[in-house]
Amino acid sequence: MSHLFPTYSRWEIEPEITGGSMMIDKNGKSYLDFTSGIGVCNLGHRPKNVEEAVLKQLNQYWHVSNLFQDSTQETAAKMLAEASGLDRVFFANSGAEANEAAIKLARKATGKTKIITFKDSFHGRTFAAMSATGQDKIKHGFGPMLETFVYVPYNDIEAIKKEIGNDAAAVMIEVIQGEGGIHVGNKEFLLVVQELCKQYGALLIIDEIQTGIGRTGKPFAFQHFDLDPDLITSAKGLGSGFPIGAVIGKEKLAPYFGTGSHGSTFGGNPVSIAAAIATMETIFKKEFLDEVVDKSEFFFKQLHNLKHLSTILEIRGLGLMAGIECTIPVTTLLAKLQNIGLIALPAGEKVIRLLPPLTVSKAQLENGVNMIKEILEKETFTHNEDERLVKY
Ligand SMILES: Cc1ncc(COP(=O)(O)O)c(C=O)c1O
Repeated sequence: MSHLFPTYSRWEIEPEITGGSMMIDKNGKSYLDFTSGIGVCNLGHRPKNVEEAVLKQLNQYWHVSNLFQDSTQETAAKMLAEASGLDRVFFANSGAEANEAAIKLARKATGKTKIITFKDSFHGRTFAAMSATGQDKIKHGFGPMLETFVYVPYNDIEAIKKEIGNDAAAVMIEVIQGEGGIHVGNKEFLLVVQELCKQYGALLIIDEIQTGIGRTGKPFAFQHFDLDPDLITSAKGLGSGFPIGAVIGKEKLAPYFGTGSHGSTFGGNPVSIAAAIATMETIFKKEFLDEVVDKSEFFFKQLHNLKHLSTILEIRGLGLMAGIECTIPVTTLLAKLQNIGLIALPAGEKVIRLLPPLTVSKAQLENGVNMIKEILEKETFTHNEDERLVKY
């Protein structure tokens, strides 16, 4: 009998060791990992510079609390501020916690409570982050939700125009919906959302938890769309696998997060901060991001070569964040991919989500796409055969 709550539906694989874009399981089978630990290991598994920074910190101190001066938190905050064009940072331990802090800050700064989010969005599992999430399956059995969230269809200008008004504290949005199926925001829509926020005195909060830290070829994905958010949230890739979250906001918000207003025992833990600094030092360099863009072009070219397969409805994404929407549920496809050595993610029922490490090689990208081709080609055949049998 397991002593774990059965909250996760786990795969058959148990890792033994990881490195770069690869994983070897307990049976000695090796896999190409296109999950990056769900968008976390953007530098691949166990990058050397992060390991060194963490080991150095482990030899100094592990935890002292936020009662002490912390110049490394200052360094990490400065790096986030410079990379985002924002000013102030609060460190949390996870994505949901970062969103929780952003929601609290938006309510306090505006004196309003209504927050507009989007259908199929995902913002985390704490109570406010769950309430913000626009997917019923995440909330099942936990109701009632916080009442101040309303959900409008994504990429729908008329819908947001209808919903927003002077009572809105904030709009919280992913510029690419990750868990919801890799839906890329339309630039015109995103700019209208920003304009409406300005018009009605609502804060624009961009959830960059999955899209940030170089994933799309820029430090943060909002930078593809000429946006000027009041707050962004980050986590996942920020610590390369060490738990950390961050809210990054404009200077005007600083007075509303004054001393004693918010806090966290572990937030900004020195070990995670050391990992975050080493991660950002590598990823925020222009040459590194240029390479991500180059690999992305190569990756999408390869993926688009699969478009003729009848099991594929659409290929979407940006940078090294891709979604293949299929005509059939992907759970068994993912298991078949694992059998031949590729680990990929689902996003919703019918989307294969690919989040390879940003350090992946072109040869590995090609190899991964070939494995997808192999499985989907077989599947196309079986699927068509099924249809034929049903028809006649
Ligand atoms: C866009 C987005 N927001 C928030 C979260 C929640 O982050 P965490 O699991 O670290 O709480 C996730 C996690 O998948 C996410 O993708």
